[in-house]
Amino acid sequence: MARINEHFLKLSAGYLFPEIARRVQGFAAAHPALAPRIIRCGIGDVTEPLPHATIKALHAAVDDLATHERFKGYGPATGHEFVRAAIAQGDFRSRGMDIADDEIFLSDGSKPDASAALEILGSGNRIAVPDPVYPVYVDTNVMAGNTGPALEGGRYQGLAYLPGTPGNGFVADPPTEAVDVAYLCFPNNPTGAVATRAQLEAWVAYAHRHGTILLFDAAYEAYVRDPAVPRSIYEIPGAREVAMEFRSFSKNGGFTGLRCGYTVCPKSLMGTTSTGDRVPLHRLWSRRWATCSNGVSWPVQCAAASLYTDEGQREVKALTDFYLANAALLRSAVQGLGLRCWGGTNAPYVWVECPEGLLSWQAFDLLLEKAQVVITPGAGFGSCGEGFFRISAFNSRANIHETCERLAVLAG
Ligand code: MLT
Repeated sequence: MARINEHFLKLSAGYLFPEIARRVQGFAAAHPALAPRIIRCGIGDVTEPLPHATIKALHAAVDDLATHERFKGYGPATGHEFVRAAIAQGDFRSRGMDIADDEIFLSDGSKPDASAALEILGSGNRIAVPDPVYPVYVDTNVMAGNTGPALEGGRYQGLAYLPGTPGNGFVADPPTEAVDVAYLCFPNNPTGAVATRAQLEAWVAYAHRHGTILLFDAAYEAYVRDPAVPRSIYEIPGAREVAMEFRSFSKNGGFTGLRCGYTVCPKSLMGTTSTGDRVPLHRLWSRRWATCSNGVSWPVQCAAASLYTDEGQREVKALTDFYLANAALLRSAVQGLGLRCWGGTNAPYVWVECPEGLLSWQAFDLLLEKAQVVITPGAGFGSCGEGFFRISAFNSRANIHETCERLAVLAG
């Protein structure tokens, strides 16, 4: 009889965003007259069309596949050299970071990469996650057997939680205990908080002290406008020895439907065997890709490369400016109601403190039922998210204006 991976049975709830979609569908079915009014500011899914540079690249790549001369079959599993070179140059070397082309690994997005990273790490690692947290970091560790059972309140036994609170601006310091792996996400999902250079330096120093591997999720780096805020962990000296970084084209180029992202795995990043030998993770990550994937499709790789052209860069800036302007509108609407909020200045998410007396799923229900606005309840991101909710700025300008007005139901 085939056995299942019983770690999946420990998962205490469905994945957050399908759960929200299920509740919204239930509301729409029960109130068909209100269904067309629903505005979705829950999942961070882009609404604006792809850049023209990308559309042109996609058309040209499809035409390549229609000719014998330019046809492409299997490519290198980790991405075509010209794409990796454009990324390494455009995102890192042009900004003074020492990242080689062959340290870039193209994929279908940072969510699968964050999950796949666990395949090259051993079992028995002590794992630290932020709280509130992008649920993928927790759920994939549960699935991989890196936790004990679910505890009261939604946490899992065995994980080290790093609390984010108004007191620390939702940026946790390294823990006092030693952990083997720590997830960091800046600009942060869900709070929109950004880490200062000094805060990231403290994490890199901690990782060197304890042999910790940092899994740094920089999916939202294109939203950073403050030049003092680091956009990559590799801006911090010593990070090449301790960190892997995940990047996404979903939120800068609008690729949520096209699917492409990449991981940076420096050759100087080492892990330890049970006998204490130090082994470069790059070797394992390359081997994992060669065996488990044939990489990203030719049209999508060409689309990714288009984002590094002058035209593509201008269009990414315009797209991210557009969503940041939405975030600014949401912030001022929330503040106008006398509610405290974080994020939304170097990030596309606004993190709002619930009106007094409301739990986060109650705020979700109130906004859905009375205003037909979908937000993400903070409790879905962990126990420290209780009492807060996230509004996504990924929407049309008209919907954001409408949302700003409808948020008035929070005022009572
Ligand atoms: C979010 O809304 O947190 C993200 O869009 C979800 C994701 O990227 O998986």
